[in-house]
Amino acid sequence: MSILEALKARRTIRLFKQIGVSSDDLRDMLDAARQTSCACNGQLLRYVVVKSSDDVKKVFEQTAWAGLVKPRRTPVWGVSAPAAFIAVVGPKDANSMTYADAGAAIQSMQIAAYEKGLGCCWLGAINREKLHGLLGLQEKQEVFFLLAVGVPAEQPVSEDITDPKDVNYYLDDKNQLHIPKLTVDAITRWL
Ligand SMILES: Cc1cc2nc3c(=O)[nH]c(=O)nc-3n(C[C@H](O)[C@H](O)[C@H](O)COP(=O)(O)O)c2cc1C
Repeated sequence: MSILEALKARRTIRLFKQIGVSSDDLRDMLDAARQTSCACNGQLLRYVVVKSSDDVKKVFEQTAWAGLVKPRRTPVWGVSAPAAFIAVVGPKDANSMTYADAGAAIQSMQIAAYEKGLGCCWLGAINREKLHGLLGLQEKQEVFFLLAVGVPAEQPVSEDITDPKDVNYYLDDKNQLHIPKLTVDAITRWL
């Protein structure tokens, strides 16, 4: 599979098989993150891997999933929940450059996971205050995002659209998630 093929085929996964993820696979994802471009090569991000079942459950309780297709893409603990989380942590006083760093690192991790047959959901709708304590962060740190990781139990598909009004993802009558993506021509001007 080429990198472009992976970038096009990877989709956010919100339903997971109840199978563990190996520490080696998680470490490879973090290896991808650490090699990613970041502003001034400052490397201000830190990561917390959550993989013991008790801790995953506590973190899971601080997350919110797929508002547009509730409740069918809200994973259920013990049934369809992720096997692990990677918390992406930055300084509390971070500027937009550091958030850009986080985005780039997360995308690298998602692609590394995809290559291994794992699925991810990037989570921004999280209870940062509670997670701060749960993850044992320092006062000057905060959780930017969580990345849920596990073995996919769904196969979402993307489809091309040209009208920005059509971007809402949806479930079809077979319970498959569709992710509309604007075409290159719809989002690009060439000078
Ligand atoms: C910054 C950011 C925050 C997100 N937060 C959430 C979230 O809290 N819950 C969720 O279910 N999905 C979340 N997502 C996943 C998006 O909904 C998903 O990427 C989008 O629907 C497009 O699907 P795709 O990743 O398959 O292209 C987030 C994605 C990004 C980039």
